[in-house]
Amino acid sequence: MKTVKVNLQKRSYNIHIKTDLLPESGKYIKELNIGKKIFIITDKNTAKLYYTTVKKSLIKEGFEVHKFTLNPGEHLKSFVNIVKLSNKILPLLPDRNSTIIALGGGVIGDLSGFLASLILRGINLIQIPTTLLSQVDSSVGGKTGINTNYGKNLIGTFYQPRLVLIDPKTLQTLPDREFLCGYVETVKYALINNYKFFEYLDNNKSKIKNKNLNFLTDIIQTAISSKAEIVAQDETEKTGTRALLNLGHTFGHALEKEVDYSDLIKHGEAVAIGIILAAKFSYKLGFCDKTIITQIETHFKSFDIPVSAKEIIYDWNINNLFNNMLSDKKNQNGQIAFILFKNIGQTFLARNITHNNIYDFLESVFYPS
Ligand code: NAD
Ligand code: GLY
Repeated sequence: MKTVKVNLQKRSYNIHIKTDLLPESGKYIKELNIGKKIFIITDKNTAKLYYTTVKKSLIKEGFEVHKFTLNPGEHLKSFVNIVKLSNKILPLLPDRNSTIIALGGGVIGDLSGFLASLILRGINLIQIPTTLLSQVDSSVGGKTGINTNYGKNLIGTFYQPRLVLIDPKTLQTLPDREFLCGYVETVKYALINNYKFFEYLDNNKSKIKNKNLNFLTDIIQTAISSKAEIVAQDETEKTGTRALLNLGHTFGHALEKEVDYSDLIKHGEAVAIGIILAAKFSYKLGFCDKTIITQIETHFKSFDIPVSAKEIIYDWNINNLFNNMLSDKKNQNGQIAFILFKNIGQTFLARNITHNNIYDFLESVFYPS
């Protein structure tokens, strides 16, 4: 088994990664010395595939297990569901040593994490992520949240889990489109600060396409170690270090918002296009060489990951895209923040880009003459 530690003093925790870890989950959860009551929050797709395995393993260790199954989808991240789940959990008399387990992808993880941070002002949270995106990103680092009419994840908390259990075998049942979305977030770590990792991924494309379990375990470990290090340096995104994890997201979120978070473009796809736009913008502003754009594009294209917004819709409204970027969580004093490239594996947070520069860039990409 591979174990990565997130070092956050009293709130430090382990991430265990191993094929066939789910049937042993109870054993590792028991080691935490938590109370008997466990509330598993999951969605229908995940429950059907993995709930019984996790439940059996917990019962074997003497836990009392309660299950809450929701219909899958981004809409789950709402105040309504926080209220509904609270009204189901509170009558079961949780105490501060009770635990919520998030069994599923990032949607279940974000919602369950938020709820765990609220019940009795905080009960234990364990993440058992079952999508690649949640295994390399959302299950670690403590960002929880729900969506509102004003945008995604604008309400939430920083609340670290006590343990993260990753079983890469769960990726074998994941639809390809979801897998590739998680893969984009994996490549993101390479692009941020690890050129060797980019080369490694680029040289092993067939192992990724075949979902080779040893290889997946290996790259999940590299990705999540990178996240753990960044989170340990800047847990609540104050210094700019954690903001690097937002590579591709300033443009990506603007695209997602423009299609109303519909299935036309999934988060990972928007991030892939956003990464290419960030590379093009970095080149236009004179920060990097043109070749990095082609290198990243070629890598994504070999997986059929979209690299241009025009592959999704031909006509985008750049006024709307620009306005969407104005509500990015990284912004300060009305200045839009971007993660830009100096090179592959060398990125930085840029805050001093003028609105004119941004608008000109959007015009040059979306309305080329
Ligand atoms: P998701 O949770 O919606 O899961 C995608 C789909 O896969 C769902 O239909 C789900 O039921 C299904 N599924 C899950 N595991 C499966 C499996 N093993 N086999 C078959 N189907 C399975 O989506 P996601 O991409 O995991 O997460 C996206 C969410 O994560 C967004 O809400 C985003 O805001 C959030 N996020 C949070 C952070 C963070 O740091 N907290 C970081 C990145 C993204
Ligand atoms: N996914 C970005 C972060 O955790 O900061």
